[in-house]
Amino acid sequence: MSEMLLEELPGVGPATAEKLKEAGFNTIEAVAVASPSELANTAEIGEATAAKIINAARQAADIGGFETGDTVLERRKLVGKLSTGCVEFNEMMGGGFETQSITELYGEFGSGKTQVAHQVAVNVQLSREYGGLNGSVIIIDTENTFRPERITQMVEGLSEKLGLELNAEEFLQNIHVARAYNSNHQMLLVDSAMDLANELKDSGKPARLLIVDSLMAHFRAEYVGRGTLADRQQKLNKHLHALLRFGDLFNACVVVTNQVMSKPDAFFGDPTKPVGGHIVGHTATFRLYLRKSKGEKRIIRLVDSPNLPEGEAVVAVTTAGLIDP
Ligand code: GTP
Ligand code: MG
Repeated sequence: MSEMLLEELPGVGPATAEKLKEAGFNTIEAVAVASPSELANTAEIGEATAAKIINAARQAADIGGFETGDTVLERRKLVGKLSTGCVEFNEMMGGGFETQSITELYGEFGSGKTQVAHQVAVNVQLSREYGGLNGSVIIIDTENTFRPERITQMVEGLSEKLGLELNAEEFLQNIHVARAYNSNHQMLLVDSAMDLANELKDSGKPARLLIVDSLMAHFRAEYVGRGTLADRQQKLNKHLHALLRFGDLFNACVVVTNQVMSKPDAFFGDPTKPVGGHIVGHTATFRLYLRKSKGEKRIIRLVDSPNLPEGEAVVAVTTAGLIDP
């Protein structure tokens, strides 16, 4: 995070700074990822001035930058795999969810996206011999669907399965949850997550999983109509890149859930597709499509991945958590 104050940006006086803060642009980073029209409206300044302010903020925030191939290779060597707890699902994922990547879970309501998210929030805390990353979890909850009771049930399920005496209370203590009230807030919470992960870095439980459940709900609700779609996509792009950066910086898994919409023009195949357009599609490293099947069964399809074949796995969503059917 940049230590610079908003007032230090050229063109930002105390009154403008105040208006920006009121609108949720509290940091240089938040200004850096805003669109000129958005900033112009909230701060009641011209778009040209807004663009200048944004450019200055981008430079100050040092967003992006180049690194050498050997640095990237060193970081890739650290990639960890987070077990889903299910044999077929893990195999399809080449061992589990990768760190330094975004894994997107999409599917219709009740398909199990939030359940999978809860399960990995438990699994990540396990030691490596049990498929975990010995880490803690940060959850950005946009729909108020985080349920500590489910975590407790899943920890109990795991205790039985693994023959360990796991303490649900401790698992809950390693899950840091924040509600996001709108898309700006959701984006700012990634900054807060970075701060928190920095604090946890040298603790016994560094943050190794960041969950955004759901990624698109606020963006979808706030940006209706074609006119604002470009703005939305620009913000979404920034958001996704902030998430990727989190994954890289902390060698963490990033898991996001996504809704589907019906494809009215689909005569063949599955008439649903994830929302968010090509920006989500291109930024998520692994895309998983969840479908309801008989009873507790769910079919999970790996739709897109840089280095794994497409495939399907069947799991069961039970009270004890995600298990092999
Ligand atoms: P939306 O967020 O609405 O889009 O859906 P989602 O994909 O996140 O669905 P979610 O993960 O919340 O799945 C809900 C489903 O999980 C329920 O319909 C149940 O089938 C199952 N489920 C949730 N809790 C339990 C539980 O305690 N026991 C069992 N057996 N199943 C559960
Ligand atoms: Mg859900």
